[in-house]
Amino acid sequence: MSIIKACIFDLDGVIVDTAVYHYKAWKRLANELGFDISEEQNEQLKGVSRVRSLELILQWGHVTKTEAEQEELAAKKNEWYVEMISHMTPAEILPGAKEFLETCRAAGLKTALGSASKNSMTILDKINLAGLFDAVIDGNMVSKPKPDPEVFLKGAEALNIAPADCVVFEDAIAGIEAAKNGGMKAVGIGSPNVLTEADLVVSGLNEMSLEKLSML
Ligand code: BG6
Ligand code: MG
Repeated sequence: MSIIKACIFDLDGVIVDTAVYHYKAWKRLANELGFDISEEQNEQLKGVSRVRSLELILQWGHVTKTEAEQEELAAKKNEWYVEMISHMTPAEILPGAKEFLETCRAAGLKTALGSASKNSMTILDKINLAGLFDAVIDGNMVSKPKPDPEVFLKGAEALNIAPADCVVFEDAIAGIEAAKNGGMKAVGIGSPNVLTEADLVVSGLNEMSLEKLSML
């Protein structure tokens, strides 16, 4: 029998594929600064905070900016990103995500969102999923980015469930590390060759079941 009592979900890349919007906005910013970013480079931005993403991008473009300029650039990127996500609809929920959330809740498991994004509430509202989470912890509520476990530990605390009884669903290496650092189980969403530290890797939540949870 499983000891799992709660499921904590990352948002970008697990519930919705917003990576494409982040990429478009960062690419536009890089282009304005006179260089480009590749899809491979974009992979390295997954799960990474806004501030750190900008630092990496400026590094790739060999561009130096003051702290004040960096704040302006990050704000500009976010404006473009927010404009794009303002058009999101429930059709953009990744396959199986809503169904698995409903399955968990019907089985009496607690659910939380654990995201680095400061835009998570906007997205949850747009895709109409906010009601399926008992707690939402996002980038506005944490000070230490993944792989620090802060976001997931706060999630467990909000649910009143011990970390060892929680499982985290993550598409980013840093997110799997964060779950492990917090003493939680981790299910990777993506490729087993990339998410090597996960307890189980599936290609999407449409591949998850209570039976698989019970085997963790
Ligand atoms: C993560 C994304 O979930 O949130 C990153 O994977 C993103 O790509 C980070 O940079 C911060 O998001 P936001 O919406 O606060 O800029
Ligand atoms: Mg993610």
